[in-house]
Amino acid sequence: MAQRHVRSDEIALAARLLTRVLRGDNLEVVIHRHGGQAATPRITAWLYGSCRHFFSLSEQLTRLCHIPLAKLDYDVLAVLLLGAYQLIHSDAKRHAIVSESVAATTILRKSAAGLVNAVLRKIDTAYEPETTVGQLELPDWFIAEFRATYGESLLQQLAASMMTRAPLSLRVNQTKIDPMSFQGALWEQGIAFVELYRPSTIRLCKPRPIASIPGYAEGWFAVQDANAQLAVHALQVEPGMHVLDACAAPGNKTLQLLERAANLTALDADASRGAWLKTESQRLGMQISIETADATTRSWWDGEPFDRILIDAPCSATGTIARHPDVKMHRAQDQLPLLANLQERLLNNLWELLSENGLLVYCTCSLLRQENEYVISEFIAQHRDVQVEAISEGAPGNPLSQKMAHGVQLFPDPNWGDGFYVSKLRKLAA
Ligand SMILES: C[S@@+](CC[C@H](N)C(=O)[O-])C[C@H]1O[C@@H](n2cnc3c(N)ncnc32)[C@H](O)[C@@H]1O
Repeated sequence: MAQRHVRSDEIALAARLLTRVLRGDNLEVVIHRHGGQAATPRITAWLYGSCRHFFSLSEQLTRLCHIPLAKLDYDVLAVLLLGAYQLIHSDAKRHAIVSESVAATTILRKSAAGLVNAVLRKIDTAYEPETTVGQLELPDWFIAEFRATYGESLLQQLAASMMTRAPLSLRVNQTKIDPMSFQGALWEQGIAFVELYRPSTIRLCKPRPIASIPGYAEGWFAVQDANAQLAVHALQVEPGMHVLDACAAPGNKTLQLLERAANLTALDADASRGAWLKTESQRLGMQISIETADATTRSWWDGEPFDRILIDAPCSATGTIARHPDVKMHRAQDQLPLLANLQERLLNNLWELLSENGLLVYCTCSLLRQENEYVISEFIAQHRDVQVEAISEGAPGNPLSQKMAHGVQLFPDPNWGDGFYVSKLRKLAA
């Protein structure tokens, strides 16, 4: 991407958006809903880059800035992070980045021109981070967790994967087209792809605008991370089954389930997350809406047991850092017990709604054992009617999957997708 002609107004807009992320807002939401002004591809790239390299940039800025970063005004910190990111990772002219960043502070009405000028002029573009946090671009508690759970070599591999852009994967919508015909349509257009999980999970070798992929308007495919598709495969849904998608929004797995299950109930506690499914289900030629309900309760249940239950649990999302680099800035270790408690309550409540011999698949996009293996082993310890089943669907084909005591852990990888944990539980006769 041409990075010349950096402009102060662009930097100021990027800084306003980055400030919201620094305050805790979700990066993707900030980019897509920021009050009318378009975030250009360049601003989007700066924002993703600044979040991805947040820890090494912060390390160098800490050394150069006489005020602790935590005491800086957020807008000023954002200008510094963006400036340092561009100086190190773009080919724009050094003096232009510094002077336009200084001018951006005036647009932002901050009296920090001197500080921004002094710090950015001293940025060392060949700086090698000295701390492990800066080298791996991860917070120290993640590093300690990953090291303790997976060992040093996998920690290094995970850290590298998380710095690489996540791939664009598709799921062929088999209610509209068979996978071979869809693959044929890609060949005809010269779009290179790899078949990941047979036959309907495809990774494009090069990301491209979704609407330019054949069959977009016709609903031939959905965009869905390849590893995210595993949980629904593991659920082994057959026609006629009564199925519950308990944590459904925004609805990616709901749509995947609908290819097989007509008798599907989709719930989510957050009413604001259901809008996307409306338009996406229309494109795919399906009909579904998400009911707003709390799946830790039974007030919404009509008393008919489910043959299959999917719990795609709310979690730390640590498996999606390559796609959502702000996750590593926002997660704190003390959030984990709260998440684990919610995950356990969802499992305990919904297990009672599962029919005898039925299957429940629990999954998270987390790499942390506190939300995965620990939750399942606690659950098993409290229930006599649970049998853990092996997951044969898909996962063995992925070189970055690890069999755990109660499920499968998939690791993030630029060729495969996000990190996921999947556990498949059968309900035995009481
Ligand atoms: C990982 S997301 C689900 C992603 C979704 N299954 C998909 O594939 O698009 C977890 C969801 O759980 C929902 N959630 C959190 N607590 C809940 C509860 N008590 N009952 C139902 N849904 C809940 C969140 O609102 C969030 O939408």
